[in-house]
Amino acid sequence: MADGSTALQPFQMSSAPIILSWIESAEELWNWTARKDFPLQNVDVFSEWHADPDVTPWEYIVEGELIGYGELWCKPDEPWAELGRIVIAPSRRGGGHGRSLVRALIDRVQQRGFPEAWVRVRAENHVALASYSKAGFVRVSVDCEAELNANQPTPYVWLRHNFVNPVT
Ligand SMILES: CC(C)(COP(=O)(O)OP(=O)(O)OC[C@H]1O[C@@H](n2cnc3c(N)ncnc32)[C@H](O)[C@@H]1OP(=O)(O)O)[C@@H](O)C(=O)NCCC(=O)NCCS
Repeated sequence: MADGSTALQPFQMSSAPIILSWIESAEELWNWTARKDFPLQNVDVFSEWHADPDVTPWEYIVEGELIGYGELWCKPDEPWAELGRIVIAPSRRGGGHGRSLVRALIDRVQQRGFPEAWVRVRAENHVALASYSKAGFVRVSVDCEAELNANQPTPYVWLRHNFVNPVT
């Protein structure tokens, strides 16, 4: 179980090489960013991602140590926010930190006044699906998923967390 002090802090470019070093295989890179150019070594990708004004990047700190990274994607014209590019340091996976990071990001979504948070996950990424489900995410309907997947590079499982009308 994750315990100890935890915090989300704004991303700093000096952390970029550490975060990239956490991606240990082509499959992980595909799961993380839907990119195929493993190993991803050029930290400029962070600048490209963060140039989008809808993207807010966060570092996840546990007991003073950087162990996670994730982004909020908030489009002003959409009634939800999406969590993206979530990753936990390999040595810290499987201990509930992914779930805690996602919960912390969900808190930010709520603080910004969005009624819902969404996240997309590859169907093969069983660990992410288990982690996010424990954080309160629920898979959307087949029809909704088909619509959302129409223009995606790979079919995703789409999960939704509604604060106003929680799905049970
Ligand atoms: C996905 C990720 C963020 C999850 O973080 P984490 O700290 O490992 O996850 P958690 O410990 O919160 O939860 C993992 C859950 O998966 C379960 N799990 C582990 N291996 C599993 C498997 N092969 N199949 C199904 N569930 C599995 C664990 O039992 C745990 O569930 P539990 O709490 O009910 O026991 C992390 O594994 C990661 O960084 N992966 C690489 C990048 C990535 O895939 N990002 C996701 C982008 S959507």
